[in-house]
Amino acid sequence: MSLKEEFLWGGAIAANQVEGAWDINGKGISVADVASYKPKVDVKDYAAHNTITSEMIEKARADRTTEFYPKRRGIDFYHRYEEDIQLFAEMGFKTLRLSIAWTRIFPNGEEKEPNQLGINYYKKVFEQLKRHNIEPIVTLSHYEMPLELSDKYNGWVDRKLIDLFVKFSEVCFKEFGSYVKYWLTFNEVDSVGRHPFTTAGIVEDKCIEYSYEEAIYQALHHQYVAAAIATKKCHELIPESQMGCMLTKLTTYPNTCNPNDVLLSLDSNLNNYSHADIQVLGAYPPLYKKYLENKGISLKKEVDDDKILKENKADYLAFSYYMSRTESADPTKERAAGNTVMSVKNPYLPSTDWGWQIDPIGLKISLLELYDRYQVPLIIVENGMGAKDEVDEANKIHDDYRISYLKQHIQQMKEAVDLGVDLFGYTSWAPIDLISASTSQISKRYGYIYVDQDDLGNGTQERLKKDSFYWYKKVIETNGEELG
Ligand code: BG6
Repeated sequence: MSLKEEFLWGGAIAANQVEGAWDINGKGISVADVASYKPKVDVKDYAAHNTITSEMIEKARADRTTEFYPKRRGIDFYHRYEEDIQLFAEMGFKTLRLSIAWTRIFPNGEEKEPNQLGINYYKKVFEQLKRHNIEPIVTLSHYEMPLELSDKYNGWVDRKLIDLFVKFSEVCFKEFGSYVKYWLTFNEVDSVGRHPFTTAGIVEDKCIEYSYEEAIYQALHHQYVAAAIATKKCHELIPESQMGCMLTKLTTYPNTCNPNDVLLSLDSNLNNYSHADIQVLGAYPPLYKKYLENKGISLKKEVDDDKILKENKADYLAFSYYMSRTESADPTKERAAGNTVMSVKNPYLPSTDWGWQIDPIGLKISLLELYDRYQVPLIIVENGMGAKDEVDEANKIHDDYRISYLKQHIQQMKEAVDLGVDLFGYTSWAPIDLISASTSQISKRYGYIYVDQDDLGNGTQERLKKDSFYWYKKVIETNGEELG
C-alpha cells in the first residue's frame, strides 16, 4: 500500500463559491459578490476577462439581485451545510478543506469587534465536521476579502491590510483553534498577478501614484508578510497547529527542445516557484529579486520584513493542480485555455470542455519537482475536472469522464509517493457542484454531488449522487488501492 493509513482523503470548497447568504446575519459585501456571470463571453476566453473596473463595481453594488452574481447565492451551503457534510461523510471523507469568509467575521474589514453571528455559524459547521470525524483544513483567504478594503485602500497595495488580515486571523485562531489544526493563509497566493482584483482587491483604474504592475508586486509582498505573521500567531495560539502556504502549480513544458522554448518554460516555472520559495524557504530568491529590479519595481519594505519571512516559514506546502502548460517562442502557435492563464496547445494532451489540458503525468512531475525542491510535507488541495453533466430520466448522472480524470491523477499521485514524495492528503475540487471561480457558472460542474441549479439560479437545489460519488467512496475505503 503506497499511501499512509492516516492519509487525508477529502474534498475542497471555498466559502464564496458555496455558501450564498451573501447579505444576511451581518455579512459584508466581498470582492466575490461583485463578480458577474457573463453569458456572452466564450468560456475558453475567460482569462482575458478578469479585469474589473470601478464602474463595474459600482454597477454591481447598485444591483441587489443574484441572477448575474451567482457567488451571492452559491449553492446555499450556508443553510444546507448539515446535509452536505452528511453526504461527504457518507463518502468516507477524512478531511474537508473549506474557507472562512472574512466578511462574515469583519463585514467591512475594519470593525473593532468581530461579528458574533459569523463566528457562531462557523462553529456550527466545525461541530458538524467533528460529529463525522472530518478534519477541517481551513483557508483564511480564498478570493473573498471585504470589498470595502478594495474601495478604500485599493486592496493589498496598502500595508494597512497586513494588520487587518492578522487581526481577522487571530480571531479565527482564538475562536476555531479547538476545532482546526491545519490552516492555510492565502489560496493560490501567486494568482495576484493573474486576477489582482479577486485575490488582492486591486482595481487598475485606481492605480494612480503607482503602476498596475507595481501594485501587484507590492500587494504580493504584503500578503507574504501577512502570511508569515499569521503563521507566528497561529503557532502561538494553537500549539499543535500546522500552517501551510498554497500555490497554483502551473507546471510548464517547453513546446519543443528549441532552447528558446526551454528558456521560456524555465522562466515560467521559476516565476511560479518564487511564491513558494518566499513562504517555504523564507526569503525572496536572488533571481526573483533581480527580475523585479529589471522590471524597475522597487518594493516598499519595512526593516523587519525579511526577518519576519525568514523566521515564520510555512510548515507544509499545499497546491492546486488541474493542468500543465506549454510555452513556445513562436507567437503563431495555437493557444489553449487554462486555470486563468493561456498557454500554447500541447498536441499530446486532450482538453476539457473548458479547454484546460488534461495531464495526469504532469501531477506526478509536479509532486516530484516540489518535493525535491522544498522537502516539506505536501498536500494536493485542489484537483478536478469542470464538465457538463446530464441528469437522465432515472435521476442518475453517469460521469465516467470525471472518474477517468480523477483516477488517472490519483494513480500518478500514488506513483510519486512510491518514489518517495511525502504527501499527506488529497482534497479534490470540488466534492459538490459549486459556482466557478473564474466564470461564475455552475454548469461547469466539478462535484461527486450534483446540485440542481442552472447558471441563472433556476432549480430546486436538490442534491443528487453522481456515479463518481460511489467511485470516490470506494477509493477512500480502500485508501486508494481500488481505483476502478
Ligand atoms: C482554483 C481556485 O484555482 O481553481 C478555485 O482556487 C477554483 O477557487 C478552481 O474554483 C477551479 O477554477 P474554476 O474557474 O473552474 O472555478
